[in-house]
Amino acid sequence: MSATNHVTLEFPAIAQNVEFARVAVACFASQIDSFTMEEIDDIKLIVSEAVSNVVLHGYDSPGGLVRVHAVIEGNVLTITVEDTGRGIADVEQARQPAFTTSPDRMGMGFTIMEALSDDLDVSSRPGAGVRVIMKKAPRMAGSEEHERRS
Ligand SMILES: Nc1ncnc2c1ncn2[C@@H]1O[C@H](COP(=O)(O)OP(=O)(O)OP(=O)(O)O)[C@@H](O)[C@H]1O
Ligand SMILES: [Mg+2]
Repeated sequence: MSATNHVTLEFPAIAQNVEFARVAVACFASQIDSFTMEEIDDIKLIVSEAVSNVVLHGYDSPGGLVRVHAVIEGNVLTITVEDTGRGIADVEQARQPAFTTSPDRMGMGFTIMEALSDDLDVSSRPGAGVRVIMKKAPRMAGSEEHERRS
């Protein structure tokens, strides 16, 4: 079991920082030994979807920030991605597959975050920003042992 640990990152909501955030959080997450490479890839993807959303949709004008907070408690990784931008008027609608306010996009970001995390919570106050909280734990700590036994 991993000890409790946490990290906070804050950076401008610009496209260059999406790659930074996904690699940084994946590196932090790898402190949980029993994450598989596939699960670390899932973490990279959900972080990049959440941070991309802030870059693409978060702010009406340049200069806005993204705050990423990651916590390890035991075997559970909790990632919070938040902004202080325009917010989402109807979160339930925004979470629907294929819903987008940008005609050139797929509207699949929240669907991916939901599918690849164990738990997704999205909250927003219009005009005050969005907070996305995602939890992920190794699915099968000791799966090799499970396979060996079965
Ligand atoms: N941080 C945010 N601030 C403001 N609006 C947001 C934010 N994140 C998401 N949204 C809104 O929620 C909608 C759905 O987001 P989602 O990530 O599912 O799809 P998308 O970003 O439009 O497309 P894709 O993720 O497939 O490129 C967005 O179109 C946008 O209107
Ligand atoms: Mg998106």
